[in-house]
Amino acid sequence: MSDDSITQSVVERYASAARNGEQVCTPDGYDMESLATYIPESVLQIANGCGVPVGLGTVRPGETVLDVGCGGGIDCFEASRLTGKDGHVIGVDMTDEMLEIARNSSAAVATNLGYTQSNVEFRKGRAEKLPVEDQTVDLIISNCVVNLAPDKQRVFQEMYRALKIGGRFTISDIVADTSIPNYLLNDRERWGACLSGALYTRDYLHTIRATGFVGVHQVGVAPWGVIDGVHFSALTMTGYKVSVPPSRPSNEERFAGYAVLKGPFKWVIDEYDQTFVRGVWRSIDRKTSDLLHLDPFRPWFLFSKDVVAGKMLKEDDPNLLRILPEDTPCVWKGLFATMTSLFERAEDDDHHLFEGGVPIEICSKTNDVLTTPQYAPFFHILNRAQQPVSGEAVTCSPNGDCC
Ligand SMILES: C[S@@+](CC[C@H](N)C(=O)[O-])C[C@H]1O[C@@H](n2cnc3c(N)ncnc32)[C@H](O)[C@@H]1O
Repeated sequence: MSDDSITQSVVERYASAARNGEQVCTPDGYDMESLATYIPESVLQIANGCGVPVGLGTVRPGETVLDVGCGGGIDCFEASRLTGKDGHVIGVDMTDEMLEIARNSSAAVATNLGYTQSNVEFRKGRAEKLPVEDQTVDLIISNCVVNLAPDKQRVFQEMYRALKIGGRFTISDIVADTSIPNYLLNDRERWGACLSGALYTRDYLHTIRATGFVGVHQVGVAPWGVIDGVHFSALTMTGYKVSVPPSRPSNEERFAGYAVLKGPFKWVIDEYDQTFVRGVWRSIDRKTSDLLHLDPFRPWFLFSKDVVAGKMLKEDDPNLLRILPEDTPCVWKGLFATMTSLFERAEDDDHHLFEGGVPIEICSKTNDVLTTPQYAPFFHILNRAQQPVSGEAVTCSPNGDCC
C-alpha cells in the first residue's frame, strides 16, 4: 500500500467512527465518570486512545500543549482543565468529522470549567506537517496516532520542531515485540485498527532518539493484543528536547564536573554513546550534565565538581545499588524483558545484556530482580507464553550464576 492510500483509509476509518459514535480502540485508564462531569458524551464516546498521556501529571499550569491526532478532543479538554485558563491547548487532526465534534464541544467544556472563553483551538492538519510555529509548544501529547502515520520519523521531526527548547512529549502508542510481517503491513483494516503500523519497540526508540530527543523513558505500558505470535503493547513514553551544544564547545562546555553511576545496572551506555560503570567517577561535559540532571536520570547518578576521573566509590558505599537474584529455583515461564528507558545498552549483575527495545527471555529469578522498584522503571516485561507453562525448576548455570 502506498503512503497516500494508507492515509486515505485512515481518514475514512476515523471519519466513519466519528459519524457513528464508534470506538475503534477502547482506551484504558481514564476516569470516565469524572471526565463526564465537564466533557460532552459525544466526545467521550469516540475516545480512541491507547493510554492516558495527559493524565500522568505531565501537564503544568499555564503551559502550551499540543495534541497530535486529537480526534474528538478528549485529551485536549483534559489538558485544558490541567493547564488552567491561562494555558493554551492546540488539537491537530486530519479528519474533518473528528474536528467537527471537537470544535462543537469546546464552548460547553469552557463553560463547565468556569472559563470565560475556551483555551482550546482545533486545527486541521497532518502530523507529518504540523500547522504550528517553530518552538512554541511546552508539551506535546499524542494518543494512539503515530502508529497510523506511514512516515514516523517525519512525525517526530515535526514534533521536535514545534517544541520549545526544554520542551517534552508524553505519547501513548502501540508498539510490537518484533517487526511487523508484510502481510499485516498490507492489511488496510489492521492499519486503521492501530496494529499494522506499529513499530518494533527497538525501531520506535531508535526513531525517537534519531530525531534528537533524549531522556526517552517509559511512563506506562499495558498489553494490547497478539496476532500470530506478534505481541502488541500500548506504551507511553516521555522524552525531552534539550539545547543543541555548539559545534565548537568552550572549555566550560567541554567540562562540567564528574558523575558516577550508582546502579542498579553494572554499566550503562547513555543516549550520547558514553559508558558509565557503576561506582567509577568520570568527567562529563555540559550536555551530559544537563541530560543526567533531568528527573528520570537523577536518581541513578551522583555528581561532584572535584573528584578525580577513575576514582571509585568504596565497595560498601551506601549509595551503590546492586540487586542480585535470590537463591531460589529458576523457572522459565515465557517471560521476556525489554529495556525501554534512558539507556541504549546496559548489563545487570547477572550477565544479562540489554539493548533498548529488544526483548530477551528471562527466568523467574531474573524477573524477580527486574520487577524490583529499582529496575522496574527501565523494563517492560511481557509474557509471550500467554498460558501456564510446565514450570519445572532448572539449574541456572554451572557456576551458580543466574541464566
Ligand atoms: C486512534 S484515533 C485517536 C484519537 C485521539 N487521540 C483519542 O485519544 O481519542 C487516531 C486519530 O488520529 C488522527 N490521525 C491519524 N493519522 C494522522 C496524521 N498522520 N495526521 C493527523 N491526524 C492523524 C485520526 O484522524 C484520528 O482522529
